[in-house]
Amino acid sequence: AHQWRGIIEEYRDRLPVSEATPVVTLGEGGTPLVHAEVLSELTGCEVHLKVEGANPTGSFKDRGMTMAISKAKEEGAKAVICASTGNTSASAAAYGGKAGMVSAVLVPQGKIALGKMGQALVHGAKILQVDGNFDDCLVLARNLSENYPVALVNSVNPVRIEGQKTAAFEIVDRLGDAPDIHVLPVGNAGNITAYWKGYKEYAADGIATHTPVMWGFQASGANPIVRGEVVKDPSTIATAIRIGNPASWSYAEAARDESGGLISDVTDRQILRAYKLLASREGVFVEPASAASVAGLLAAAEDGKLAKGQRVVCTVTGNGLKDPDWAVAGAPQPVTVPIDAAAAAERLGLA
Ligand code: F0G
Repeated sequence: AHQWRGIIEEYRDRLPVSEATPVVTLGEGGTPLVHAEVLSELTGCEVHLKVEGANPTGSFKDRGMTMAISKAKEEGAKAVICASTGNTSASAAAYGGKAGMVSAVLVPQGKIALGKMGQALVHGAKILQVDGNFDDCLVLARNLSENYPVALVNSVNPVRIEGQKTAAFEIVDRLGDAPDIHVLPVGNAGNITAYWKGYKEYAADGIATHTPVMWGFQASGANPIVRGEVVKDPSTIATAIRIGNPASWSYAEAARDESGGLISDVTDRQILRAYKLLASREGVFVEPASAASVAGLLAAAEDGKLAKGQRVVCTVTGNGLKDPDWAVAGAPQPVTVPIDAAAAAERLGLA
């Protein structure tokens, strides 16, 4: 049987690598595309989930990071740096560690999920908590990379986008063509940029007959692209997308406009509703930010903005295990029983 070799080997001819590039991989990509039966029923469409939480460090960031770290190694970098709401730092820490580099990560104080902090720590990153938000961290990371010997591996590094575009390739390879609509959460706006690039490349080469309409969703408390202005103090429970001044802002607008799509927003309440539905009905446990794509799709369907019968792919970007607080908080406490079948059966409603 074919063993997936990671995105660089699988899509080598479509990525800026050469024989001289040392490939640093953890086998990222090749993630499941799951037919979502309940969402299909609710929307009257054919809905699929691209489950990016199945990547080695539990998010889509690994696709870009295998490229960024491989290229940094090729160029002789000894250290890399990123600003992060958590997932980029977890990924940089893992791939940097594997490449024998020092990974420095800047995270907003108190605003990253515990699982992501644990990943950065155990993979051996040097972590600084910054007294500010993600946007402040990114300004600082850019400054350090310009003035000190350290390579920036945020998605403003174009090879990150190159790696991330492979998710669009996988979807077309699997479905046989591009979907009608592609939906994803938007934070720093690198991923929507990457998917759009991937879809355009496949369409230009005749591998897909068309490109999808791109739908991006921000959290309503962190919605600069929707408002058309920087959000100075972004706020949402979806900490991964708590971003007020996205680096790839103009590229996200281009993806929206060229594809005839939209960038809208969803409330934290809508995000949590989609989060629970994904876990309880579709069997897919994602982190809150990832549920923004599905929340947006459901809202569009409820508002009558979604024509029936379309083929839709929603990217769910990160694994729910990274940030289980909302899973536990929203559920009743399990009851304790003695080691007794009758008592257990009664509690389970079997007796
Ligand atoms: N979903 C998750 C789980 C994320 O971690 C991110 C971004 C996004 C969606 C949004 O993607 O930024 O390309 O628009 N996380 C970054 C980080 C900012 O630092 O991990 P985007």
